[in-house]
Amino acid sequence: MIAKRAEEIPPFLVMDVLERAHALERQGIRVIHLEVGEPDFDVPQSVRDAACRAIQEGHTHYTHSLGDLALREAICRHYARTYGAQVSPDQVVVTAGTSPAMLLVFAALLDPGDEVILSDPGYACYRSFIRFVDGAPVAIPVYEEEGFQYRPEEIAARVTSRTKAVLVNSPSNPTGNLLSEERMRALADLAPIVVSDEIYHGLVYEGQEHSILEFTDRAFVLNGFSKLYAMTGLRLGYLIAPREFIRPIQKIQQNLFICANSAVQIAGIAALEETAADVARMKRIYDERRRYMIGRLRELGFGITVAPTGAFYVFANARRLSTDSYKLAFDILERAHVGVTPGIDFGQNGEGYLRFSYANSLENIVEGLDRLEGYLAVL
Ligand SMILES: Cc1ncc(COP(=O)(O)O)c(C=O)c1O
Repeated sequence: MIAKRAEEIPPFLVMDVLERAHALERQGIRVIHLEVGEPDFDVPQSVRDAACRAIQEGHTHYTHSLGDLALREAICRHYARTYGAQVSPDQVVVTAGTSPAMLLVFAALLDPGDEVILSDPGYACYRSFIRFVDGAPVAIPVYEEEGFQYRPEEIAARVTSRTKAVLVNSPSNPTGNLLSEERMRALADLAPIVVSDEIYHGLVYEGQEHSILEFTDRAFVLNGFSKLYAMTGLRLGYLIAPREFIRPIQKIQQNLFICANSAVQIAGIAALEETAADVARMKRIYDERRRYMIGRLRELGFGITVAPTGAFYVFANARRLSTDSYKLAFDILERAHVGVTPGIDFGQNGEGYLRFSYANSLENIVEGLDRLEGYLAVL
């Protein structure tokens, strides 16, 4: 009775690790969580206040299906201020998180069999979204030695008449690395369309991230409030699309979701315009943790050829320990009580790696890596 698409969608393996960690916690064991990709910070006060005020003031009804106009205008100001990109509010669609924005973009872009080029390793759910609308993900390996950056010439070689888009995620989950300006420009020139997931923008500690809109307007931007503003549970995101796609996307939004949460959309304006100090503080703390984690993991013998400079992840080569990252992650969880994400979650080319998240306190990171050192000592 169960549909093929539901049978075939793979689980998100990090959730398997998290669920086992929670089972251990129910037995009274203290687990250090370095697996989750969720900020440990609270939502900035100004955002909380704005959300509460919005509910009190009656922002509890449906909004325009594209999203509250004041928020879409604030998003346009954000893109103009940050990247010098001129976006009109009628090119923006507000969604309940970046994930629904991804579904809308791929649903509007892909006919059955249409291909999307993406990096391996890369965010696990991209493949699932593409397959869900009967598209075909085409995985291109990216290598540790090059900071897991795309090689434009390899992409050029894989572009066919079925290729609809190339997906970029810089800074990237799981690698924490950025795509260089030159390579991004080259991609923008050779791809029919670029889908750029900019959800980790703002969380860059060295170097400079670039929006795809600096290079081309044949692009979709995916972005959201979960990471930079620590708003995961409030569920707010958006997409920016070429004008001709807006009406088709709007129709899908109206049918599938109607609109995003109205009070949270008001809070999104506060996030964009009133949180500079909060963001600077979170960034400073992430950076301190990042430096510690990279140094300590290298001391423990993990391979990190190019130090990650964005997001809140370190993707460490653990092949000298095991080539079965799923087994290794569970062994570390069972014996050291430290949660880490198996690299295989992010594609075949991620096998043999572990993803460590520093979205946890420095104190917990120190303890987690102390435990890992103890684990390695008795292997
Ligand atoms: C690369 C990437 N894109 C999108 C998402 C989804 O974020 P949201 O909470 O906005 O749906 C995540 C969440 O981990 C992510 O890592």
